[in-house]
Amino acid sequence: MKARKIVDEMDSYVPGRSQDEIAQDFNLKKEDIIKLGSNENPWGPSPKAMEAIKEEIKSINRYPESQLKELVHEMAKYAGVKDSQVIVGGDGADEVIDVLAKTFIDEGDEFIVPLPSYMYYEYLLQQYGAKPVYARWDLEKNELDVDSIFEAISDKTKMIFLCSPNNPTGTLIEKEVLADIASKNPEVLIIIDEAYFEYSEVTNKDLINEFGNVFIIRTMSKVLGLAGMRIGYGLACEEIIEYMHRIKPVFSLTRLSFVAALNTFRDTEYIEESIQKGIESRQYLYDEVSKIEGLNPFPSKSNFILIRIKDTGFTASELTFELMKRGIIVRDCTSFKGLDDYWIRISICTLEEDKKFIEILKEVLN
Ligand SMILES: Cc1ncc(COP(=O)(O)O)c(C=O)c1O
Repeated sequence: MKARKIVDEMDSYVPGRSQDEIAQDFNLKKEDIIKLGSNENPWGPSPKAMEAIKEEIKSINRYPESQLKELVHEMAKYAGVKDSQVIVGGDGADEVIDVLAKTFIDEGDEFIVPLPSYMYYEYLLQQYGAKPVYARWDLEKNELDVDSIFEAISDKTKMIFLCSPNNPTGTLIEKEVLADIASKNPEVLIIIDEAYFEYSEVTNKDLINEFGNVFIIRTMSKVLGLAGMRIGYGLACEEIIEYMHRIKPVFSLTRLSFVAALNTFRDTEYIEESIQKGIESRQYLYDEVSKIEGLNPFPSKSNFILIRIKDTGFTASELTFELMKRGIIVRDCTSFKGLDDYWIRISICTLEEDKKFIEILKEVLN
């Protein structure tokens, strides 16, 4: 039985590796593994979210909420927008991107992604017959090559994905640049991915009131500590949100995710502490990695740091393998288009884990 042509020709997405996989492959204890691979919150979820999940578990014989009004209200309050400007995704921000594609992409449309960036945009949109057109991040200057975006635009362009702070470079795109691209291309959806905005303390959410073609992606998987519950959300003008609601899976957000999300947004102390600790860990890792010969870390506004390792003599796959054997998971960036074989990405951890990582990294490089 042959699948659709697009599916037949597609490669699978390469996600970061889990602690369970590494424990099994390298015969290690799961609790000894330090994970700096997937940009999660290493301090665990909000205690209030955990309590709420325990309580809600009695009700999982019932279907979840479909309207999600209470949660939409909480998200809108957190984001500083109107309830009618919010949509929730039950498989994280990835579902929000999927619903965007289902709502707006016709076969043959083009979308622009500056490389390197989050690879899932391309993986998803291709499933709907859309074609990627690549712009670029200038890795020398560590900034978006804005001209490359304008050069990539054609009359087939439907979407432009601009991740800020960008995964994997950790760099912000200036608001004036985003507004300029949006205002000059009113027929194109400008998708600003703010998965990591809390760590940069910058948001572009006000652009949704200025432009009817701006969409902001958000997630609860990063600073909000709920990667395993799969909750994302999007912000845009009411017209876009209303169209997306026609397509969105009705029950994709489980009851447990719903209560976890509500109680995390209400736990402002947890959120503030997570941001603060994340920024401290980022600074520590950046300073320590900078001191190691052969490693060139990028300054980051996010919860991860991209490191050029070419001068160490290791490729990314060799170095990640050596670290993995010793119980450390980092992201081998070889699968990121726009990067060669000499980049790894590390994410924030607890200070104790950061120290152990730096120690083992030095040991491997020596
Ligand atoms: C830039 C960016 N956008 C979106 C996502 C997806 O987040 P979620 O876990 O909510 O699907 C990620 C996850 O790593 C990401 O890095």
